[in-house]
Parts: sequence; structure tokens; C-alpha cells
Amino acid sequence: MRKSHSYRGPSKPAGGGRRTMGIYRTIYERSLEQPEAFWAEAAAALHWDKPWERVLDAEKAPFHRWFAGGRLNTCYNAVDRHVAAGRGGQPAVIHDSPVTNSRRVVTFAELLELVSRFAGALVRLGVAKGDRVIIYMPMVPEAVVAMLACARIGAIHSVVFGGFASHELATRIDDAKPVVIVSASCGIEGAKVLPYKPLLDRAIEQASHKPKHCIVLQRPPCEATLIRGRDVDWAEAMAAAHPVDCVPVEATDPLYILYTSGTTGQPKGVVRDNGGHATALLWSMRNIYGMKPGEVFWAASDVGWVVGHSYICYGPLLNGNTTVVYEGKPVGTPDPGAFWRVIAEHKVSVLFTAPTAFRAIKKEDPEGAFIRKHDLSSLRTLFLAGERCDPDTLLWAEAQLGVPVIDHWWQTETGWAIAANPIGIEKLPIRPGSPTVPMVGYDVQILDEAGKVLPAGRMGAICIRLPLPPGCLPTLWQADARYQQAYLSRYPGWYLTGDAGYKDSDGYLYIMSRIDDVINVAGHRLSTGAIEEVLASHKDVAECAVIGVADQLKGELPLGLVVLKAGVARDPAEIRQELIAKVRSEIGPVAAFKLVAIVSRLPKTRSGKILRGTMKKIADNSEYKVPATIDDPMILNEIADALKELGYGGAGANAA
Ligand code: COA
Ligand code: AMP
Repeated sequence: MRKSHSYRGPSKPAGGGRRTMGIYRTIYERSLEQPEAFWAEAAAALHWDKPWERVLDAEKAPFHRWFAGGRLNTCYNAVDRHVAAGRGGQPAVIHDSPVTNSRRVVTFAELLELVSRFAGALVRLGVAKGDRVIIYMPMVPEAVVAMLACARIGAIHSVVFGGFASHELATRIDDAKPVVIVSASCGIEGAKVLPYKPLLDRAIEQASHKPKHCIVLQRPPCEATLIRGRDVDWAEAMAAAHPVDCVPVEATDPLYILYTSGTTGQPKGVVRDNGGHATALLWSMRNIYGMKPGEVFWAASDVGWVVGHSYICYGPLLNGNTTVVYEGKPVGTPDPGAFWRVIAEHKVSVLFTAPTAFRAIKKEDPEGAFIRKHDLSSLRTLFLAGERCDPDTLLWAEAQLGVPVIDHWWQTETGWAIAANPIGIEKLPIRPGSPTVPMVGYDVQILDEAGKVLPAGRMGAICIRLPLPPGCLPTLWQADARYQQAYLSRYPGWYLTGDAGYKDSDGYLYIMSRIDDVINVAGHRLSTGAIEEVLASHKDVAECAVIGVADQLKGELPLGLVVLKAGVARDPAEIRQELIAKVRSEIGPVAAFKLVAIVSRLPKTRSGKILRGTMKKIADNSEYKVPATIDDPMILNEIADALKELGYGGAGANAA
């Protein structure tokens, strides 16, 4: 049974933030005033094969580089270093898989053996420093092994989330041009066995670039058929390989590419370097998450997302922590007590997940009966990120678990928290609805349309003054111009986060919405533009718009409004089903695209801009103004009716 906590009661929307911010503020201010001294000290906690020549190289600004001239190996720092220091017997990775009813513990020494052997397998198949390797795998420890093996030989990995379908995978294959793709025969989602190999084969067929080889991990519920000459069985590749050593790389060399959604169907290849990344993650493990080496850290996410890269794989291992690779869901595997069982069984100190996971648990276990069945005394803190954390969810989690619940805000591009409550430095008062304050190195300001810094309480575009701290993207993969255009051109000298919000008078940040077409579905970042591209490619569709509508469980859901070509007289229900199936097969099940309405026209301004924001407000029952520039206000009635039929909007009279 659960032991008692020294918990001091629920969070209050407390004042006095600044009064209690002494240590944090001193450290934060130093990081902005003396960035080079600050980050040099942080980097000294790593093993460097060659010291850097310049901490911050601004020669090619705005393309800043951290630790220029330095050489290190991220895998060495995450694995070998700990074995050399005597941690070989400590669990490095715990695979907990309720969907296969199995647990597997891999110690640091075993991880070293697996990683150096798999690195040897990659080398044997022709992978060299700087080559790309795509990893398309479910939540198995081999995914982490493959990532580290790439890091070991200086190859650049690009992990593609398993919930993406062939077309998305093909897009990434064509952009990254991998020499090898590492995959598995299948993933297991709850009770469903999902064969990955047919998706992989189809993606390679669709892509113009062809990888030389695929390494396939055969998993018992469903063995894949291998293509002779191209595909290699993981086990055979391992048996034939010789372990290889770490290759020191430039601190500024890319460690990985992670594709993320932007405004179009062409995903952005976020690049992560080696030196800045390892420095920032190690700093964050100790100072944000308050983790000591030897403790167990669990990020209940997926290796396909940035949370998985930073806090399932690299962060915990760099800090000598045990990381949990969980192959299950918060509910249904088998019940809403799944998270509590994992925490109790593996003595997890810190859990990191998305608010949507807690909303799912709360829905099935509102009184927390399952929580009380487990001993959660090891749990110190819960961290939430990935989407806006509604205060109800935060307060519920806090009351049920009796530990601080920390909302923190970041994005694929930054790789670690822009704003958080730095538990490892000092716990600042929690204000539900705010991810607290900017982290070191991030000079976060709210800008108005003209680029003027706004005072407290005023809403605007959230921007970060350049240079971004170590760990953040130095550019997009082979797309410097796109990087500048997407992030740096709107406000010269600033990085545009794409989020809108405000600061309060104590400097607490509030992240309110996106300023672009990105939506957040169950903590997964999706582009409405990408879904629109799929819908528009249906033979009967003349034009369409996709909006994100509020959803109690997933935060947002995509909803499509579609206008058919003149003369199409087919059954609308059939067309709707085809559109849903098309998004599922081209983007993937993760898009959760199930809502589509066929309308006669879309509301537009006189200059032809689709009024997506107005439609979203109607769907969410928010107050809206009929835009003065609308070409035909009457169409809004038809849109409201169509949304109502799907179960959205309905108040009808919210026009102000
Ligand atoms: N491989 C293949 N398919 C996947 C997948 C994967 N790795 N991950 C998800 N899918 C599929 C699901 O099976 C589901 O398919 P369905 O339409 O056939 O049911 C679909 O994609 C949508 O998945 P998901 O958004 O996860 O919804 P869900 O209904 O299965 O579960 C939650 C809802 C809230 C329990 C779940 O979203 C969750 O645990 N979220 C945690 C958030 C998280 O990890 N965020 C990452 C950033 S921190
Ligand atoms: P991703 O790149 O998938 O991590 O998504 C990043 C985006 O998710 C951010 O730009 C925000 O829009 C949103 N987000 C992430 N964390 C938070 C948070 N704590 N509060 C509000 N929004 C968040």
C-alpha cells in the first residue's frame, strides 16, 4: 500500500513568486549575462575527447554554434563513461511491456555490449560517420540501442514515430536519404498487433531514395518476410557483427534529425548537434528534474517524439539514471492503474508524461482508486508537457498523487524545456495554467506585431532572443533558408516559437495558443496543412479546410470541412469514409482524423483567405466576431449546422 508523503497541500494560485526566486534568479541571470562561462561549467560535467576552442561561435550568426572545435561522443558519455566509473551493474534500461506481458532489464554493461555490437552491424552494412539511419520502431529497447549505436559511430539517426503511415515515412526517407533503415516486424498497440514491415516496404516503394539495407527486429506475435539482399534479421546482424568503439565527433556535428510538423505537408527536419545537446540535457536532468545518478526516470512517451529522444534515451543515460521504456498505454493495458504499477515496480523517482495521459486516467478512475492500490512512495515529482496543461488536470493529479506536479513548456525544436519549475535548483510556487519561468539561456519575451517587447499581462507572440541556448536546433536538415524563414525572419534577432501567450508580473509564462496551423492531438503535434493536402488530393474534393477543435480527452481533434467538385453526385457518407481512410493511410492513425463535414462553400475573406479561426471558434462555442472582410456572412450558418451535426458548436448565438 501507498506510504504517506510529506505533502503540504494543494497548489494555490500563490503570489510572492519573485520573493522565493532567489537561487533560480541568480542562476538564470548569470546564464544570460555570462553565457559562455555558464555553459562551459555545465559542459565540464561531460567527457570531451578534445576541449572546445570557443564556447559560443557567433561568426555565422544567426547560425550560432556551441562548443566549436570540441570533440566528444554522445554514446560514450551516455554509456561507456558510466561503465568505466563502476555503474556497469546498474540497470540502464528497463523495458516494461504490458502488451507482451514481459519485463527486461538491461544493465549499463549489457547496454554497452549491445550498442557497440549493433554499431558494428551498422558499419558492416556500410554506414559511416555522417550517414543517416532511419529508425522506425515500436517501444522496444532495441530502438534505444539503435539510436546510441548511430551516435557511437557518428551516424545521424532519424527516428520516425510508429503511428505514422507509409507516405509520411517515405517523405522522411526522401529528405534524410538513409543508408540503412532499422525497423521491427510489428508494434503492439493495446490488443492490436500492427505489422510495421508492410508499411516500411510500401514507404520504400513510394520513396525515390532507396536505402541499401533494412535491419528488421523479428518480434514473436508477427514475423516479417524479409527481402533477400536488402533486409537483414536483427539477430543475425548482431551475431555476425564485431563490437566497435566510439568515434569522437565535432561538438557541432549532427547527432540526429527529428522531423516535426510545420504549416505544410513537408515536415521540418530539426537538427540536433552533439556537444550542445549533451550539455543541455545533462544540466536539465540535474537542475530541472532534480535527478541524482542511480535513480529511475520514466518518460511515458515514445522514442518517435522529442520527449522520447531527450528523456527516454539521452537525458537519463547521460546522467547515469535508469530509464524506463514502457510499451503500453495509461489506460487499457490493462487498466487505469498501469502507470502506478510501473512506478511501484521499478521505484520510479520522476514521471514525465503528457496531460492527455492523465485526462485518460482521470476519466476511468476519477476517485483514484487504482492509485491507492500501489506503493508510490518512490515518486517525488510528476512533470507534464507536450500540450497546454489545464489546471483541472494538474490539480487532480496533485491531489491524487500527493507530489508536486510541474507543467513545463518546450518543443521539438528546443529539445529541452524553455520554461519550467527547476526542482533541482529550487521549487518555485506552482501556478496552475503556467509552466512557470524561463530556463537558463532562454531570454523569453512577448512581442507585439511590430516586434516591440510587451509588458506583463499583454498577450503576444512568444519569442526567444538569439542566440538560443545549447541543445536547441542549429538549423533544419539541409534547409538553412527554410530555418531562417520559418523561425528567424518574422522578428530579426529573435526565434519565433509559434506559440502565443503572456507573462504575469512575476515573470511566470502562460502559453495560450499557436499562431500557426499546428494542432496538438493527445500531445502529438500535427499540421492541419498536411491533413488538408491529403483531403485536397481526393478526386472529388474541390477545396477544404482543417481546424483543430477542442476535445476533452485529447486536447484537440482535427476536423475537416470539405467542398466537393461541381457535379459530384456520390453518396456523401461514402466520400467521408474515403477521406477518413485516406488520412489514416497517408498520415497515419496518430492523426485521429474522424470528423469530416461536406459543405457547399467555405467562409472566406473578400481576398480569398479561408476563415479557419472563425470556424474553430464556432466549433468550440467561443465568442467570435463576424469578420468585417467576410465575403458572405450567410455561409457561417451552414458551417454552424454542419459542425453541430458532428457534435461541435451548437450554441449558435455566440457571434459578438
Ligand atoms: N504505432 C502504431 N499506431 C499507433 C502508435 C504507434 N506507435 N501510437 C498510436 N497509434 C495509433 C493508436 O492505436 C490509435 O489507433 P486507432 O485509431 O486504431 O485507435 C491512433 O494511433 C491514435 O492514438 P492515440 O492518440 O495514442 O490515441 P488512443 O486513443 O490510442 O490513446 C491516450 C489515447 C490519451 C491514452 C494516448 O494518446 C496517450 O497515452 N497519450 C499520451 C501522450 C503521449 O505519449 N504524448 C507524447 C508526447 S509527451
Ligand atoms: P512538440 O514539438 O511536439 O513538442 O510540440 C510543441 C508544442 O506543443 C509547443 O510549441 C506548444 O504549442 C505545445 N506545448 C508543449 N508543451 C506545452 C505546455 N507545457 N503548455 C502549453 N503548450 C505546450
